[in-house]
Amino acid sequence: MPIEIAPSILSANFSRLAADAKAALDGGGTLLHVDVMDGHFVPNITIGPLVVSSLRKAFPGVILDCHLMIENPDNFIPAFAEAGASWISVHQETCLHLHRTLQLVESYGCKPGVVINPATPVHMLDEVLDIVHHVLVMSVNPGFGGQKFIPAALQKVKTLVEVRESLGQLFRIEVDGGVAMDTVGDVVRAGAELLVAGNAIFGKGDISENTRKLLQAARSATLTHA
Ligand code: DX5
Ligand code: ZN
Repeated sequence: MPIEIAPSILSANFSRLAADAKAALDGGGTLLHVDVMDGHFVPNITIGPLVVSSLRKAFPGVILDCHLMIENPDNFIPAFAEAGASWISVHQETCLHLHRTLQLVESYGCKPGVVINPATPVHMLDEVLDIVHHVLVMSVNPGFGGQKFIPAALQKVKTLVEVRESLGQLFRIEVDGGVAMDTVGDVVRAGAELLVAGNAIFGKGDISENTRKLLQAARSATLTHA
């Protein structure tokens, strides 16, 4: 599956959000990762459907990959879908009825994804892998950008690759947290193909150039692997 970079707008400058997002897309980012936090499930508050709606207007054809770090996601899935989300992922840890919640996302015409925290094992997803479009492995504890990559995420990615192969499934594997020039090679070699990056893209320097270099590093890691 193709390697894609998902710039996480959490680390963008919100006073010039469209320009920062455009710079990341110009550099080779192919989806915009949107971190939604409620101050309950995670210790931070970020953005809601209004911002998704503005991004949709600014970027009509771009995949908006909405990562819901919120309690009771069922209450907000309709609003994010109507705002223009393309993909919606929910945390396994927040869903009492995970299967139903994923079906709800699908019923609104969005691609359903499921996310696991660093403390959650992959096998908690066994019964939903056949209905998800993507699995997002957190490689930091969710809540903030710019944290240090947790290497144990790599084994989870490898396990997901094995399970996907053995069951003949198609879900894509995404990694989120601490993905940067020094970690991206390991992440790709483990088998992830959707790479979320916030600080590495928007933190310092030229946004397009940062994106381009990260994508190049990711692609050359694949070549090394082959
Ligand atoms: C963290 C978010 C991430 C965050 C990643 O809770 O889910 O998407 O933006 O940021 P970096 O790449 O800086 O670790
Ligand atoms: Zn995220």
